Amino acid sequence: MENKKKRILFVCLGNICRSPMAEFIFKNSAEKAGRKTDFIVSSAGTSNEEQGNSMHPGAREKLEEEGVPCTPRSARQISPEDYEKYDIIVGMDDNNMSAMYRIFQGDPDHKCRKLLEYCNLSRSVADPWYTGNFDAAYEDIQKGCEAMLQTLK
Ligand code: 4NP
Repeated sequence: MENKKKRILFVCLGNICRSPMAEFIFKNSAEKAGRKTDFIVSSAGTSNEEQGNSMHPGAREKLEEEGVPCTPRSARQISPEDYEKYDIIVGMDDNNMSAMYRIFQGDPDHKCRKLLEYCNLSRSVADPWYTGNFDAAYEDIQKGCEAMLQTLK
């Protein structure tokens, strides 16, 4: 039987802190669970502010501290075409969700989720670009990604 890969896009505002952290944390957790080949995982931002930029050093250093491998990347903005390209599109906060619905002109296929919904939490992942707290962002994103992996079994 054909095992179709699930295509997952993580979304935040700038695509330099939370969504790339989620991309690399999810990839690492999937690999550790022996499920790497089940998924295609990427990330993007709702704004073009950071287009082309690398990950925020605070995000990169936190992943390194936690032993989560990450590769060099450059930030990009989501586009309407991403809606067809991905099966699950996961935002970090309410502003991300509103911007996604605007750019995708709604969510007719019910592909969009807010990350912590997978942990049955209605709150958002606070933006470390403003809070400076990369530890809290990591904890939330790690919990969300683990719960996602369980849900997507
Ligand atoms: P992120 O954090 O959405 O988690 O990547 C931000 C990064 C950059 C900006 C805002 C949030 N910015 O305004 O440039």
